Amino acid sequence: MTIRSVIMGCGGYLPEKIVNNQELSAKLETTDEWIQQRTGIKQRHIVAKGEKTSDMAIKAAKIAMQKANITAADIDLIILATTTPDRTFPATAVTIQAQLGVEQGFAFDIQAVCSGFIYALAMADNFIRLQQAKCALVIGAEIFSSLLDWQDRSTCVLFGDGAGAVVLKGRENGHQRDERGILSTHLFADGRYEEMLFVDGGPGSTGSIGKVKMVGKEVFKHAVQKMEQAVRTGLEYHKLSIEDLDWLVPHQANRRIIEAVGERLKLPIEKVIITVDLHANTSAASIPLALAEATADGRIKKGDLVMLEALGGGFTWGSVLIRW
Ligand code: UT7
Repeated sequence: MTIRSVIMGCGGYLPEKIVNNQELSAKLETTDEWIQQRTGIKQRHIVAKGEKTSDMAIKAAKIAMQKANITAADIDLIILATTTPDRTFPATAVTIQAQLGVEQGFAFDIQAVCSGFIYALAMADNFIRLQQAKCALVIGAEIFSSLLDWQDRSTCVLFGDGAGAVVLKGRENGHQRDERGILSTHLFADGRYEEMLFVDGGPGSTGSIGKVKMVGKEVFKHAVQKMEQAVRTGLEYHKLSIEDLDWLVPHQANRRIIEAVGERLKLPIEKVIITVDLHANTSAASIPLALAEATADGRIKKGDLVMLEALGGGFTWGSVLIRW
């Protein structure tokens, strides 16, 4: 018998306040038409004053725990993927641990920007398969609006705030690819591209948090190529083909990127979960938010073959293949 990490429940949280494209075009030289045509984004959620990353993460986590039918006493690992921790230290994951009433195990944050959830899921899966954890809470939560230059129309229209969470449990399963759980994870990074997408500040350099800078066209090109490759790597590893996939759950940055990856893979768009229209790019929260939506509405079901993929600043990128 081998240990597999099975996703037992998903949860999502979006701040109450919605900002649509028309509201942005009243303050910036942009239009609803431009934003929708170039990105597919119609609106984004933005945190209320004083609302923190941990507040959103805890709300998403509680839903995931309820769906998984577990309590705080079951959790022995918390990984939070975030670019916007509550404080520089301690890790926001320990704030979440305390506020959820988890008194055992270990907790830490990881930073891989938009690929953060993929990285966090891969790490949790490794701890579970090595039997160093039994039940993990993996969260992506971001207040990306705090990193934006609201005068820079080329970046500020693209992002939003939110949180998503999943509960993973170790199960003794066979190693066949039709048995439930994470089948494999593939992670990549190439720091030669760090100037393509970054924040121009930080506690170890400027002492300020900085603002997002992006060479949009270059990021677009790399995102399409590298996410396609990550999906193919995951499938080839198991000798599976595109036709075997039930769902692709991509990082939600731009509808055109999502469609381009789908076209290159020859995957029908009906098999792709898309939330970017209503959430915009919520960085590490985008995939768990999409999972929460697609499991709650019954699209993703037990036994489905589900591929997750993302690319973010760094560049970092990767994929996760799951028998749901
Ligand atoms: O999560 C990973 C991180 N991010 C991404 O994956 C995003 C990747 N990149 C993209 O999604 C796209 O490159 C963008 C949506 C950012 C831009 O789309 P594009 O088709 O690559 O447009 P562009 O950068 O070539 O800009 C075209 C024009 C420019 O004007 P000129 O130079 O042609 O006169 C921009 O100044 O559109 C202008 N522009 C805008 N116009 C109206 C840029 N932003 C805006 C805006 N409203 N908000």
